[in-house]
Amino acid sequence: KDNDVLIEKLETQHDIDKEEVVMLLALKDPSKLYQAADRVRRKYVGDDVHLRGLIEFSNYCNNTCFYCGLRGPNRTIKRYRMEPEEIIQCAKYGAAAGLKTIVLQSGEDKYFKINTLCKIIEEIKKLDIAVTLSIGELSTKDYAELKKAGADRYLLRIETTNKELYQKLHPGMSYENRVRCLMDLRELGYEVGTGSLVGLPGQTLEMLADDLIFFKKIDADMLGIGPFIPCENTPLEREKGGNVEIVLKMLALSRLLLPDINIPATTALAVKDKAGYIKGLKCGANVIMPNIGIDEYKKLYKLYPGKVPDNPSEAVNSLENIKKLILSQNRTIGKDKGYRKKILN
Ligand code: 5AD
Repeated sequence: KDNDVLIEKLETQHDIDKEEVVMLLALKDPSKLYQAADRVRRKYVGDDVHLRGLIEFSNYCNNTCFYCGLRGPNRTIKRYRMEPEEIIQCAKYGAAAGLKTIVLQSGEDKYFKINTLCKIIEEIKKLDIAVTLSIGELSTKDYAELKKAGADRYLLRIETTNKELYQKLHPGMSYENRVRCLMDLRELGYEVGTGSLVGLPGQTLEMLADDLIFFKKIDADMLGIGPFIPCENTPLEREKGGNVEIVLKMLALSRLLLPDINIPATTALAVKDKAGYIKGLKCGANVIMPNIGIDEYKKLYKLYPGKVPDNPSEAVNSLENIKKLILSQNRTIGKDKGYRKKILN
């Protein structure tokens, strides 16, 4: 059938136009799409699953994104900042547990001076591990200084490439500046991760197809794609959440379009669906991000509900749970830093 031909073309040429992407996103039975993505994943990045140890070091945020529980105006959550020494201790713990990448994530908190962040990065780099930052939109100069201090990668989701939807959900922010950040990061030599939220109110399959075309165009090194999960005390609290199957189709299409990149099975996917990590790993994903922060703070980093149960060691994204899960799927745990294995171009 037509769709089979499309999938085959994608699997061999890794290219496709927008209308065709929309057709595949609408597939009634996506099993062949998933299988093709799984083959391409295996061929290009192998069976290794790379672990990226996540440290959520501050939940203060100046932004007001409609979907996010950390938005500035949300007065119902208790705010925290970790001390630089605490952040470094967590990184040391992660390194001792065998992790080769640490991800430092926070809300857009102006409290931390770039200089302070640089010192933290320099300390962590002494552990001979990769450092990924996920701290939002900054100036070109700040990105340059963080890179000089040793940061290797940066995560900044575009969230949606539909400008109108973007502006509606991000008051006071601009789509152009977000793209400027991604271009700066690339120019400065970071490995660049971006991605989108799936199931935002008003988002269509055409918009998701545009997201994928954008990812291909900017040649993203990493793509984090997860379902939107409505969060209490945000403007979108009563909206419907994203659909797991569409997230899986987005992962599979990402793998087919950009065969050699890193694609996480996201925490939001695992929160939305008990088998989310496993499903993601079978649809093209090759990365998982265990949370290696401090339990007391994990509860407060509430982007969306369901992330942290009463007992944080039972969290889906605890290091122990994730290691077991990977081995149960006959996959291996990556032992190197897990940079993008550039094969094409
Ligand atoms: N549901 C799912 N993901 C969310 N994020 C923020 N809020 C939510 C939510 N309600 C995601 C955004 C952001 C990342 C750190 O968390 O895509 O880039």
